[in-house]
Amino acid sequence: MKKEERVTLFSFAGRYRILTVIGCVLSGISAVLTLIPFICIWQVVRELFAAMPDITQAQHLVYWGVLAVVFALLGILVNFAALMCTHVAAFRIVRNMRSRMLHHMVKLPLGFFDEQGSGKLRRVIDESSGQTESFLAHQLPDLTGAYVTPVATVVLLFVFDWRLGLVSLIPIALGFAIISRMSGSAMKTKIREYQNSLEDMNDEAVEYVRGIPVVKTFGQTVFSFNRFHDTIMCYREWVMDYAISLRVPMAAFTVSINAVFAFLIPAGILLIASAVDYRAFLLDFIFYVLFTPYCTVMLNRILFSSENTMLAKDAIARASQLLNEQPLDEAVVGLKPRDASVTFDHVSFTYKGATTPAIRDVSFVIPEGSTVALVGPSGGGKTTVASLIPRFWDVDSGMVKVGGVDVKDIATKDLMDDVSFVFQDIHLFKASLFDNIRSSRPDASREDVMRAARAARCDEIFAKMPQGVDTVVGTGGMYLSGGEAQRISLARAILKDAPIVLLDEATAFADPENESLIQQALLKLARGKTVLVIAHRLSTIQDADHIMVLKEGSIVEQGDHSELLEHGGIYAKMWKDYESSTVWRLATSSAPSQKEVTCDD
Ligand SMILES: Nc1ncnc2c1ncn2[C@@H]1O[C@H](COP(=O)(O)OP(=O)(O)OP(=O)(O)O)[C@@H](O)[C@H]1O
Ligand SMILES: [Mg+2]
Repeated sequence: MKKEERVTLFSFAGRYRILTVIGCVLSGISAVLTLIPFICIWQVVRELFAAMPDITQAQHLVYWGVLAVVFALLGILVNFAALMCTHVAAFRIVRNMRSRMLHHMVKLPLGFFDEQGSGKLRRVIDESSGQTESFLAHQLPDLTGAYVTPVATVVLLFVFDWRLGLVSLIPIALGFAIISRMSGSAMKTKIREYQNSLEDMNDEAVEYVRGIPVVKTFGQTVFSFNRFHDTIMCYREWVMDYAISLRVPMAAFTVSINAVFAFLIPAGILLIASAVDYRAFLLDFIFYVLFTPYCTVMLNRILFSSENTMLAKDAIARASQLLNEQPLDEAVVGLKPRDASVTFDHVSFTYKGATTPAIRDVSFVIPEGSTVALVGPSGGGKTTVASLIPRFWDVDSGMVKVGGVDVKDIATKDLMDDVSFVFQDIHLFKASLFDNIRSSRPDASREDVMRAARAARCDEIFAKMPQGVDTVVGTGGMYLSGGEAQRISLARAILKDAPIVLLDEATAFADPENESLIQQALLKLARGKTVLVIAHRLSTIQDADHIMVLKEGSIVEQGDHSELLEHGGIYAKMWKDYESSTVWRLATSSAPSQKEVTCDD
């Protein structure tokens, strides 16, 4: 059963929620404080009016002036405190949000990452949280302040002269009506579309850059650029549509919020005629002239804040979608494997979206401490078999057992502690070689790491790097060859020292020197362990305890090397091909030594 969790902004807040609330309240207080100087200035004007023509009679000008400055400063200070609170809360909340998404992602089945482009995922994690951060730190307090202002405004407007108040309110009400129309459900859809097209563009950009080597070798620049180009065009079209659709409401909004005087002045002229005390009326009128432009500023703030509110809501929806991706069910009881054996019991597995199964009814046992080899044609399902052991995917039917226990009943951490996997495609982090090796056991000491590196024959790699084992790879011209990367990944596995080792041998790196170094490293790694080795070079596996030939997802032959040769099936043919194609002896009878060149199959 899929349990949908509704993720809200405050689900990441924890105890920082109160800080956000305090920040918003302070922002509201600051908004009110900012209004007071308007009254002070108006008092100055009033005194001047009363004292005219001899303005020296105005006694309290300095008092009101100082008061205006004091309240303005106080407003700024309180606003500063408000922003401090919201910033601290925003940083923490967004940190929680990022870490929850990253932690969740680690638990997802690998298939999820195949379906999602990495550009898309990066955007969800990075930019969704970025948007949320700026919303929490700036827009939310702004919005509170901006909503407090109109309320205070309405009060003030009516205190002086309700008729002028009412007239000034017309454009404000109009502005509000337009804002709420602009941020209606149609606009929410627009914002989602906008984010989607940005996501697509991002994804295609990443794909395009990744594919550049292929594009260059096959000279298909235009063809491969097309998809990227299409997403850019799609984005452009969207932006044009959006801008055009906003022309009328934006113009109406701008006109209405700036039209205060168009209402206020005619009303003033009309009302002054009937005023009993025209001086008093004029004074009130001046207050409105001073104050109403401030409302315009507030309305603009609300407009921009409401756009950002929608962006933040969309960001949260995307984070929520990621967090609702179902991870593999965690074992309820968490049984411990009894030993380091591996059993496949009538296992079948089909990749999501594939029509034919990658593995059909596969059964075998690898007893603790023995080495079993998987061979067979490309696409036969070897990597798939290996990846079902650490539960990268869950089987459709049958059971995979480690130490006699169904892998679904073993706690993920225990299972991961028990299994090391040396992958076919080696991924090195953009970090030092040392950290790359240590990634399999972060608490390992430097000596442990160096010992593992020596066992995997990495010394000569360090020797040619400028900072030895501390050289950062993946940047600045520091790259490793395929064979070297494989040795680093073997060092990783040796350091981890897990009782079960899965080796998916890479096909390519066949220079004889490297091959022999790798062989030696493999022997070290495999000593005393349960090993499943996927071999492309048959020389690696002659001595395996058991060899299985996998074709089209089924085991079609099995036995040890000599039994399989005797059987005369696929393995025997593969061996024959291997022997006839791999060894050229560049021998001359007079040569003191023979050089053996090995080619890959
Ligand atoms: N992530 C995936 N999603 C969908 N199908 C996949 C995926 N990975 C592999 N397959 C399919 O499953 C089948 C078995 O693939 P697998 O990688 O296990 O073969 P293999 O024996 O390891 O091949 P090779 O010797 O080339 O490494 C193939 O038909 C492949 O197309
Ligand atoms: Mg494979």
